[in-house]
Amino acid sequence: MEAEADLVARLEEKERQLERYATDLRETFKAERKREQELRASYMATVRALANAVEARDAYTGRHAERVAAYGLELARAADLPLAHDQQTEFGFLLHDVGKVAVPDAILFKPAPLTDEERVLMEQHPMIGWEILRGIDFLGDAKLVVRHHHERWDGAGYPDGLTGEDIPVAARVFAVADTLDALTTDRPYRPAGTFAAARAVIAAGAGTQFCPASVAALDAVSDERFEELRAV
Ligand SMILES: [Fe+2]
Repeated sequence: MEAEADLVARLEEKERQLERYATDLRETFKAERKREQELRASYMATVRALANAVEARDAYTGRHAERVAAYGLELARAADLPLAHDQQTEFGFLLHDVGKVAVPDAILFKPAPLTDEERVLMEQHPMIGWEILRGIDFLGDAKLVVRHHHERWDGAGYPDGLTGEDIPVAARVFAVADTLDALTTDRPYRPAGTFAAARAVIAAGAGTQFCPASVAALDAVSDERFEELRAV
């Protein structure tokens, strides 16, 4: 009888112990999740601070990085690409022009065509951006967008002259978003064009400048949706 009571007491103690373990595990998991969220938030804050440092110089493109990131992610969603849900893709979109910190104002803001020498300097910005970011592990594939956002589908782009699918897919989608934003915002030398006009220009570059699948994704997103994203 006593042995049985002992056994019951031992089992009850074991059960309480297991419950304590379960509670500890839940607490650890919750704390871990909170830390992860905090880490993600500080990554995003760091990326935005860097992107803003570039944009602060450039009054007329105001919020270009934010818009182009929103357009790019929308295109990636329209093309059903997994990268639409990848935070590193968004980081790459936001930081694409970070290398422009090294381009002199006289070139960056020149309201006239660049000379050959100036163009060479300007075209160094993807590599400079890559160099700036290369040691930051959490950026991962974001660095590929920064390096390759001026490649062209036909291989005539820079800095590496990659062709077709050798160009990272995020950079191919980005190139379309970047051009869409450039054509639909005011510049010192011309007013903003309409989305319809921009679509026509981009469609004409499918298979030469742009990845055809990325251009097709553009057709799947309405002007109204782009207007919404632009207003955010
Ligand atoms: Fe660029």
